[in-house]
Amino acid sequence: MITRYLFLAAAVAGTGHAASNEVHNIANIFKPVTTPGKQEFDAAMLVLWVCAAIFVIVVSLLIYALIRFRRRSDDDFEEPPQVYGSNQIEAAWTVIPILIVFVLIMVTARVIAGVEDAPAPPNAIRATVIGHQWWWEIQYPELGVVTANELNIPESGTKHQPSFLKLQSVDVIHSFWIPQLGGKVDLIPNRNNEIWVDPKTTGTFLGNCAEYCGTQHANMLIRAVVRPKEEFAQWAAAQKLPAVNDESVAAQREVFESLSCVNCHTVRGTSGSGKFGPDLTHLMSRSTLASGMIPNTRENLRAWLKDPQDIKPGCLMPSMQLTDPQLDALVSYLVTLK
Ligand code: CUA
Repeated sequence: MITRYLFLAAAVAGTGHAASNEVHNIANIFKPVTTPGKQEFDAAMLVLWVCAAIFVIVVSLLIYALIRFRRRSDDDFEEPPQVYGSNQIEAAWTVIPILIVFVLIMVTARVIAGVEDAPAPPNAIRATVIGHQWWWEIQYPELGVVTANELNIPESGTKHQPSFLKLQSVDVIHSFWIPQLGGKVDLIPNRNNEIWVDPKTTGTFLGNCAEYCGTQHANMLIRAVVRPKEEFAQWAAAQKLPAVNDESVAAQREVFESLSCVNCHTVRGTSGSGKFGPDLTHLMSRSTLASGMIPNTRENLRAWLKDPQDIKPGCLMPSMQLTDPQLDALVSYLVTLK
């Protein structure tokens, strides 16, 4: 899995726009780029250091006792003074841990309240991330945009423009996790979970589904593409347009519309209006296929259409047994969907 991530990071780094093409490190929890991510990281570090201090104290006392009270030879055996009960010591080892736990609870509660219950400012970008077996649908109801597997959001910037994400699932429980944006949050059927992120750095951040959701759970990859504000606006404007209608591939489009692809996939401006699979209206604006598994190239697209089960066994896109001419037509048409 790691090698695949690395491969992808390298393969995709060269595509996309200038400021947002840097693919950041793999699943790096140590470099949060959002306020919630930073707060969660700080709370986790506090817990770590408190636990480390307790560990050092306990182990030091243990080592001291082992050395100080060891039996030196067979003949100097002498029982140390035997004591029974000590109110002071018992009070101390009851009260001190309670205080420590109380402080950690308060710190955690404060972070949770800030991350979960923050009201969305009016300028926030709103997106709905919907888990499917095994891909991510991403809707921007206010922008009129639907895409898949790549969460595009603007850099928060000096005016603090965060993105508010509504997390939902259409089938089983999934979990949204892009480590540098923040902690894991589940996508639960019939429930809305909400989080917000305010990335301070542009670039592409890798993530994955973090709740076992079936055969291809491990290949349910997601990436956040954080763009400078203007670039995000351009992206959204382009995504809102209907599909490119390239007359030079009219015949190939007819092949697409004649096949059962259209039952599951939407290409706005054609008869394709299925909602079961990812929206393909701007397929070629995405850098990967099969939910982040393979780079979105012509060759990979053909291999994917030829037999999705070969690349992602168990995925819900069936092997369509397409002929070579049909495959050529489909690929020629789909690569025009910028
Ligand atoms: Cu979706 Cu695991």
